[in-house]
Amino acid sequence: MPWDSSGHLIPGVLSARRTVPANIPRPEYVDRPAPARYDGGDVYDAEEIARIRAAGRIAAQAVEAVGAAIRPGVTTDELDAIAHDFVTSHGAYPSTLGYRGFPKSSCTSVNEVVCHGIPDDTMLREGDLVNIDITAYKDGMHGDLNATFVVGEAPQDTIDLVERTREAMLRGIKVVAPGRRINLIGRAIESYAKRFGYGVVREFTGHGVGRAFHTGLIVPHYDAAPQHDEEIVPGMVFTIEPMLTIGTPEAPGTTAWDEWTDGWTIVTRDRRRTAQFEHTLVVTESGADILTLP
Ligand code: MF3
Ligand code: CO
Ligand code: CO
Repeated sequence: MPWDSSGHLIPGVLSARRTVPANIPRPEYVDRPAPARYDGGDVYDAEEIARIRAAGRIAAQAVEAVGAAIRPGVTTDELDAIAHDFVTSHGAYPSTLGYRGFPKSSCTSVNEVVCHGIPDDTMLREGDLVNIDITAYKDGMHGDLNATFVVGEAPQDTIDLVERTREAMLRGIKVVAPGRRINLIGRAIESYAKRFGYGVVREFTGHGVGRAFHTGLIVPHYDAAPQHDEEIVPGMVFTIEPMLTIGTPEAPGTTAWDEWTDGWTIVTRDRRRTAQFEHTLVVTESGADILTLP
C-alpha cells in the first residue's frame, strides 16, 4: 500500500498508459525528450486569447469533474482517468501526457507532495489533501490550472492551509496590472503567506503559457526583486500558482524539498503538508482576466 507506517506517502503502481484518439491534435513535444525551443513571446491578440480561454475552460471543467469524485477510497489513478476522459471527450489533448516523459494526464499531489505527483494506486484517506493539476491543449493553445481539495473531513490546520493558499493566489492575481513588474506578484503572495508562518516554495514558479506549455517567462511566488523585473503589458498570458508549506520555510538559496527517484514527485523535506492553487490569466488594460474558469 502506498503509505508508510508513519502515514507518509510512498510510490505506488502506475496503470497502463491511456490513449488519446488519433484525431485529437497533440503538442509537438509528445514522446520527444523535451519541447522545441520557444521564442514566440508572451503577448496574444484577442483571437488567440479566445483559444487559450477555450482550452482553459475545458481544463477547469475537468478539475471540477475530478473534484466531484474525490472521497476516501478513491485512487489517484481513478481521478486521472476522469481527467483524461473529460479532456479528450472535449476534443482536447491532456498536456502533461508525454511531456518530458510524464506518464499521466494530470498531476495528483497528495499531502506532503509539493507538485508533479504521478497518479497511481494510492487510495486517498479521510483527512488527506490532494491537488489536481490539469492542462488542456486545443486549437494550438494550452490552458493550465490546479486546485487543492480536502478528502472528507480534514484537520483545521489543513483546511486553513488550503484556504489561505487559494487566497494567496488571488492576491497575486489582484496586483497584476500593466506597467507593474512581474516581481510584484510574488511580493504580494509572500507577504500574505508570512502572516501565517507558511513557507513559499521558490524553485517551482508560475510561467508563460499559451502556444507553449511553458514559454520561458518565469513568475516567482516570492519577492524576487530586483530580479524578474519584466514589465507586465496588456495581452500577456501567464500562470500564478503558489505552493505554500506549513513547515520549514525555504531560505534564499536553499531548498526545503526532495525529489523522488521517479524524477517527478517533489515532497517537502520535513514531510509536512503543502497546498497549491493555479490559474492562467491574461493581462487587461486595467488588471487581469482569468482564462481557466469553468
Ligand atoms: N501543470 C504543471 C504546471 O502548472 C506542469 C506539469 S508538468 C508535468 O506548470 F510534466 F509534471 F506534468
Ligand atoms: Co502551470
Ligand atoms: Co499546472
